[in-house]
Amino acid sequence: MACIGKWTLLMLITLLCGCSAILGQSEKRKVHIVYMGNSHANPEKATNLHQKVLAKVLSGKEEVSRLMVYSYTASLSGFAAKLSTTEAASISKMPGVVSVFPSSVKKLHTTRSWDFLGLSATSNHGFPTGGSDVIIGVLDTGVWPESESFSDKYLPDPIPSRWKGTCVSGDSFNSSNCNRKLIGAKMFPNGYEKGFGPITGSGEYRSPRDAAGHGSHTASTAGGSSVSHASLFGLAEGTARGGTPTARIAAYKVCWFDACTDADILAAFDEAVADGVDLISFSIGGSGQDYFSDATAIGAFHAVQNGVFVSSSAGNSGPKLATVTNAAPWLTTVAASSIDRKFTSSILLGNNLSYKGNAVNTIALSHPWYPLVSGEAIRNPSSPFADKAKYCYNGSLNSDKVKNNLVVCYGGLGGADATVLAAGGAGVILVDTFEFTSSIPSSVVGNADAEHILEYINSTRSPVANILPSITTVDDSLVPQTAIFSSRGPNVITPDILKPDITAPGIDILAAWPPVSSISGGRTDNRSSSFNIISGTSMSCPHVTGAAAFVKSFHPKWSPAAIKSALMTTGLYHPILWQPLLLMGTKYSMKMEHLAMDQD
Ligand SMILES: *[C@@H]1O[C@H](CO)[C@@H](O)[C@H](O)[C@H]1NC(C)=O
Ligand SMILES: *[C@@H]1O[C@H](CO)[C@@H](O)[C@H](O)[C@H]1NC(C)=O
Ligand SMILES: *[C@@H]1O[C@H](CO)[C@@H](O)[C@H](O)[C@H]1NC(C)=O
Ligand SMILES: *[C@@H]1O[C@H](CO)[C@@H](O)[C@H](O)[C@H]1NC(C)=O
Ligand SMILES: *[C@@H]1O[C@H](CO)[C@@H](O)[C@H](O)[C@H]1NC(C)=O
Repeated sequence: MACIGKWTLLMLITLLCGCSAILGQSEKRKVHIVYMGNSHANPEKATNLHQKVLAKVLSGKEEVSRLMVYSYTASLSGFAAKLSTTEAASISKMPGVVSVFPSSVKKLHTTRSWDFLGLSATSNHGFPTGGSDVIIGVLDTGVWPESESFSDKYLPDPIPSRWKGTCVSGDSFNSSNCNRKLIGAKMFPNGYEKGFGPITGSGEYRSPRDAAGHGSHTASTAGGSSVSHASLFGLAEGTARGGTPTARIAAYKVCWFDACTDADILAAFDEAVADGVDLISFSIGGSGQDYFSDATAIGAFHAVQNGVFVSSSAGNSGPKLATVTNAAPWLTTVAASSIDRKFTSSILLGNNLSYKGNAVNTIALSHPWYPLVSGEAIRNPSSPFADKAKYCYNGSLNSDKVKNNLVVCYGGLGGADATVLAAGGAGVILVDTFEFTSSIPSSVVGNADAEHILEYINSTRSPVANILPSITTVDDSLVPQTAIFSSRGPNVITPDILKPDITAPGIDILAAWPPVSSISGGRTDNRSSSFNIISGTSMSCPHVTGAAAFVKSFHPKWSPAAIKSALMTTGLYHPILWQPLLLMGTKYSMKMEHLAMDQD
């Protein structure tokens, strides 16, 4: 026991691996997906077959119902069940089984934007009065049904008779929350609960109701009704609306506490197709996987096979190359880019110089000047995180020196605003490439401005500053530009097919938000708003869904491929301005005013 060196550790690992292989059955079971290809004509027979396949690797019949998570029978055939690695391996060798893979956890990848794309609020673009009967399915965190974006007051027509979906009941939600706008609302909790335990407690509803905000935001971007005077505390004020404001929306909740499991995602794809959606919006992603081991690729394949258009977010892992996800050829993979609207928040220094930062900052400070310090200079030397003080990492700062001060923090680790807020700081000057809605007065500057601000601190006995609330500016000189965070191509699985397919607005997008969800995501930020400004390819994806719904309203018989082609080939392409798009493998930026709409 005296020397636990490399060797013993290695032997221990070998031993452990050996043990679990020998123990076999008692090995911990995890939710796996068994994919068996196209659906059968008879769903009951398909479920029987799934149970038989599962029973072959189990001891008794009783086990089957305990371990089965879902039987997929509508648009594809397959099932999700709790299996050990050994059981999964033996099922994968059975006839009729295409692939078996663990149900991995995926993550969520946020009015002006439609004007920018050439679809003004005042023009009805040839829509017949009443509306479009196009149905958009949104796989996400659910929906906040009371949001004005989901009001049906401008939709006099009854729900299309071909619609087979329903609205399920659960925590603070039942069918009375649905209407002629929100025509479907379902939840898919089985994969999450079999993996992580029951969904209970504050911060989540075990129902289609959205506690997070992401799902209401994406659904209202794709197909929300028009809402005038929408804003985030006055910022970005205007008429908020979806790309096709007369579309119908069906919410499929697949994410719980920010985790979206493959088993739940596949169940939602399968049911959405059976319910009769025309389009699916999917702003969720994981790591790039082989198509046969990716619930998104499989679910979307069968959706597209059934004529359902699927748009998906490319991911927020840019600017590194080969980071694009949701890149199966049949998906319309969406990058994120800027629009002509910016939110700037000025930083005033005591030497009378001022800097223009970017920020979604709606809070005005009450005093003209606050002491200005750099996070690095006020580190807490006894903290294990002292070396991360530059980033104002949680626990790294001497709290006494934060109180009532403005702090300069570098981005990169996240949470700087929360750290400063928790320690009673007045605000944050964040040195970063990108801004998010902050829980505290803040402004984001680049490295060059940061150098000047730090020099001012170093050369001044009592440095002071102020951060002003953001103002909205519109400047169309250099847009659109690809967002720095937007994942880039090429697609590592099929490099021959350029991905992402198209880019759309994904920076600082205003859309519906549940009043129960913090607008900055900060635990200590209790500000409530029915609209929020967020960014990501999660926000650009529903823009393409909304545009595709628009095309589909005029051309109900067009295939998903025809709609995708129409969007891409009518997109803007400029050889110089578009270089950043080309760099990531995309040639096209959505521009709807170029779409020729022949009604037929
Ligand atoms: C739905 O919920 C509302 C409000 O809680 C309640 O008044 C109504 O009776 C419920 N309806 C159904 C069909 O359960
Ligand atoms: C800043 O401007 C004010 C008003 O214009 C002036 O009174 C003050 O002396 C200036 N301060 C510095 C440091 O230049
Ligand atoms: C900082 O970390 C502590 C301990 O992990 C945690 O309890 C606290 O909530 C964190 N604070 C913030 C602002 O994230
Ligand atoms: C400011 O002073 C600190 C500590 O003396 C030093 O590490 C830093 O490089 C200085 N920064 C600037 C921009 O002058
Ligand atoms: C938010 O919290 C602050 C301080 O903790 C409190 O003063 C304020 O009333 C709260 N606001 C809301 C909307 O709950």
